[in-house]
Amino acid sequence: MTQGLPRYLLCNVRFGRFKAVFSEQDVPLAPFTVLIGRNGSGKSTLLEALQWLDTALRKDANAACDPYRGMRELVNKRSPRPTFWLGLTWNPDPDAPASPLPSLPEQIGYSFEVRSVKRQAIIQREHLWVGQAGAPQHWITTKLEPGKRLAPTGGSTGRQRARVLYPEAEDRRTLFSSPDRLALPLGPIDPDGEFLGNPFPIVRRFFRDAVFLRLSPKNLSNPSRTTRSSEEPLLDEEGARLPVLLRELSAEQLAEVVEQLKQVLPDVEGVGLSDANHRDLPVHYHLTEPMLGASQPASRLLRIPAWMLSEGTRRLTALFALLAHDPPPSLLCIEEIENGLDPWTVIVVLNALRSAVARGVQVIVTTHSPWLLDHAALDEIVRVRRQAGETVYERFADDAEVKRFRDGVPPGARYVRGG
Ligand SMILES: Nc1ncnc2c1ncn2[C@@H]1O[C@H](COP(=O)(O)OP(=O)(O)O)[C@@H](O)[C@H]1O
Ligand SMILES: [Mg+2]
Repeated sequence: MTQGLPRYLLCNVRFGRFKAVFSEQDVPLAPFTVLIGRNGSGKSTLLEALQWLDTALRKDANAACDPYRGMRELVNKRSPRPTFWLGLTWNPDPDAPASPLPSLPEQIGYSFEVRSVKRQAIIQREHLWVGQAGAPQHWITTKLEPGKRLAPTGGSTGRQRARVLYPEAEDRRTLFSSPDRLALPLGPIDPDGEFLGNPFPIVRRFFRDAVFLRLSPKNLSNPSRTTRSSEEPLLDEEGARLPVLLRELSAEQLAEVVEQLKQVLPDVEGVGLSDANHRDLPVHYHLTEPMLGASQPASRLLRIPAWMLSEGTRRLTALFALLAHDPPPSLLCIEEIENGLDPWTVIVVLNALRSAVARGVQVIVTTHSPWLLDHAALDEIVRVRRQAGETVYERFADDAEVKRFRDGVPPGARYVRGG
């Protein structure tokens, strides 16, 4: 029952002490945001902070630290205390169709702080609220648990903190004190009959359908054995489970993928799976092309398995498959989107992403391509820079250097010439 739920856009990310970020940063996000900046400036850091939350919600806080070899590596090295924090704000999407649900929040906020205690990640504070004309309503708050220490076996490690769900509703109020789990997944994912401003379903669905990509052409060509569990994202970061995603698509959605691919590869006739009927066997996907010179084209199709496809084609198949899925991703974050794509294909992908944005998908990409920037609007671009050792995120349109250029000078040229 996705229909009744209104679309909300993630319009701001505030975070501190996470990887490259020391001082708290406020990053404004648009429906389509392009992150630019020199190597090592902090572009991935922003996406990784969101992905950390995504994994912590699907699993737990320590699992979210695993890619970084634990919490201590994740916290900015200059931080005097082993803690980082993240705060997100959503606003209703002004372009979305009106929702029939009553009492929709004007703004939703979610924030948390994580602390490392004996190398374990502990949720120090968590807060979910809705802003209703200046009087916020709280749906998750944090309180100290009297007497309970975080680490009973020594060290002054502070007090255990419990999260309180529904703090303002006496009959529903619930305490939650599992130290490495966020309380948000305990809230409902479906709007109840009356809704009454309940932000849980909106935020939970946002993360259920969020996808973070750092596509790996090698993994994109591997046969995949797994089926997707309800905790897993539509597609894993590297694309290893693309066959599973393709298996979830209807015939019409697969035809849509082929239509998109044809813009780049006009000979492609279809996309198929090696054995769509045996759930337990590893499956791989293939594209089909007509055999040259065949008298009956329909019966003489060439199957080109994933590992024989060009790296760019594998990436395109993954992107188009994601965009054809119903529901589509709520948030789609893509690292170095132009990798492996020719300049014309970059524009095809950009157009596909823009039409997805028009359907309510929020997109954040990182890029090093001035060509791609030339096809973005100034106010869609966020520049990441190191200033005196600090990572700083700024709207490109607000940058004095960028404003100095004559109107009509495209963003890519402003970026490269501005230095
Ligand atoms: N825990 C940390 N403390 C301080 N700096 C860090 C930490 N983790 C990563 N960094 C810095 O962040 C940089 C990587 O940032 P990243 O966001 O991956 O850059 P990019 O803009 O290339 O995506 C590293 O080069 C390092 O300088
Ligand atoms: Mg990066």
